[in-house]
Amino acid sequence: MKVLGIESSCDETAACVLELVEGALPKVHAEQVSSQIKLHAEYGGVVPELAAREHLKNLPHIVENVLDISGTNLGALDGICVTVGPGLRGCLLMGLDFAKGLALSSGVPLVGVNHIEGHILAPFLEHHDLKFPYLALVVSGGHTEIHRVDGVGRYTCLARTLDDAAGEAFDKAAHILGCAYPGGRRLSELADAHGPVKHNLPKTTVGKNLFSFSGLKTAIALMIEARKKIEGELSAATRSELCSAVQDAICQQLIDRVKFFVAEEGISSVVVTGGVSANAELRRRVAALPGVRTFLTSPKYSTDNATMIAYTGAVRGLRDRCLDGDVFDRYPVERMVL
Ligand code: KG4
Ligand code: ZN
Repeated sequence: MKVLGIESSCDETAACVLELVEGALPKVHAEQVSSQIKLHAEYGGVVPELAAREHLKNLPHIVENVLDISGTNLGALDGICVTVGPGLRGCLLMGLDFAKGLALSSGVPLVGVNHIEGHILAPFLEHHDLKFPYLALVVSGGHTEIHRVDGVGRYTCLARTLDDAAGEAFDKAAHILGCAYPGGRRLSELADAHGPVKHNLPKTTVGKNLFSFSGLKTAIALMIEARKKIEGELSAATRSELCSAVQDAICQQLIDRVKFFVAEEGISSVVVTGGVSANAELRRRVAALPGVRTFLTSPKYSTDNATMIAYTGAVRGLRDRCLDGDVFDRYPVERMVL
């Protein structure tokens, strides 16, 4: 089964041609991602309208590229898999409408894919030994969730964030500490260069099924202000130290919750996925959990990509195939709860 994947839920336009191979890892014939980080950097965050326009501009040639590189005719595909949510409405519409056009003109079935499900199943792109059940910690700029995964399509959300996502917390703290958008990666580089620190950032206590990062953001802002009062302009060493404190506080909350659910659910396989899973400290701490086997995705499959969307659409067996009727009725562009 050979499918085209299209992803445009936030600030990455991506396409992929992937084939499911019996008894082996899926074969990626071609994949491409165009990031919009430069476009949004001057605003300090994603501007939805600009992002949507950029998708519109990029989608035709990115899709054409992956079809060309893989030597695939549109008509030879078994499915066109496209992200239908959650994500930015205008951005999703660009990908969905583009995919609908391709499907209607070629007669190839259109498959709507949930973006979070894409992240949850992404480790299967690289790990042939991952087995159900497992816990999936999904940590990105928009989501912080733990799911119990009992099979394809069998997900139980065990915890999600009450307010900000972990990536947002990284980015906001990074912004206050003067790192360019999206500062999460830069903050973690400075933190790693500094090494561990002792700090008084609060531990959140919002209940086992919730994460919360908004209070932490305020605590970080206050901590930075207090240091500025003492030191004036922060030195490079102090900035690195504060980055380390922030990283520790965010990672600690994530790890505590993973540890809790590993014990409560009696599951020892843990998947960490989404942009924040690129964080080296988080990776180290998950890997160090006793009795836990971790399955991490390589960076290109941690951040948003179309390969996980193609894979998810394909393993769903094109079950939600949809060509006739109004696709918008079948795939309302709004947050889909797994
Ligand atoms: O999954 P993703 O690429 O896009 C969304 O769907 O949001 O995640 C992006 C998020 C950003 O908040 C970014 O700062 C964060 O992932 N991120 C990191 C690291 N690399 C990316 N956060 C902490 N440490 C990193 N190394
Ligand atoms: Zn994502």
